[in-house]
Amino acid sequence: MKRWLIKKLKSVKLWRHIRRHKAKLYSSSLVSSEAYGEYLKMQLQRSLRKNDLRLKPRTIQLIDKLAEVVSLQQTKVLCMGCRNRAELDYFHHKGVADVVGIDLFSEDPDILVMDMHYLQFPDNTFDVVYSSHSLEHACDPRQVINEMARVCRSGGVVVVEVPINYEVTSTDLVDFGGYQNIHKEFVFCLKETLWSENLPSQNNSTEVARTIMRLV
Ligand SMILES: C[S@@+](CC[C@H](N)C(=O)[O-])C[C@H]1O[C@@H](n2cnc3c(N)ncnc32)[C@H](O)[C@@H]1O
Repeated sequence: MKRWLIKKLKSVKLWRHIRRHKAKLYSSSLVSSEAYGEYLKMQLQRSLRKNDLRLKPRTIQLIDKLAEVVSLQQTKVLCMGCRNRAELDYFHHKGVADVVGIDLFSEDPDILVMDMHYLQFPDNTFDVVYSSHSLEHACDPRQVINEMARVCRSGGVVVVEVPINYEVTSTDLVDFGGYQNIHKEFVFCLKETLWSENLPSQNNSTEVARTIMRLV
């Protein structure tokens, strides 16, 4: 298909999506600001451009590591910024029955359209909050971290993976620089670190920081 036509179809899809989910995405007072609306639009545009449905080796490694350090039986898991079913299915494969995903965009009933800055769940809903390559897209990481801590039950586990030491862009907004700085951001609710690593670049991929933390 011609490039201009694909571009046009994608912008129609974006416009329809925003119209359909306006109430959910633009529900808070902050969201009504023009700058925040632009932020959401940029993130959505990027997500619609990227349509990679494959389960990534890094996802397998991180969820396998999580299953090594905590029992996943009978847990309720939130995948924040999951984009598609890949993470959800891998959690199911590891024996987790109750997994929900949230993203700004969804074509799957198990993935709810929701902004990570304003999670529409009651306090203490999840045993595990899993955020892989989504926290760097936050326009206000502190607020997202507060939300993650709020919806994770006391004694629950938060998992974060982010790219580090990369050039930030208009959609990849935050460089934590290493897992040590992620821990600093979670210090108000961090009980213990179960596992962490800063992974050097491999085959030209970006360096990543990953950490599994138990909350107080
Ligand atoms: C790089 S993808 C990560 C997908 C998957 N978790 C992974 O590890 O490959 C980032 C996802 O975060 C989502 N996202 C960006 N900003 C968001 C926001 N404010 N609220 C919820 N999801 C957001 C994007 O739509 C995108 O699907």
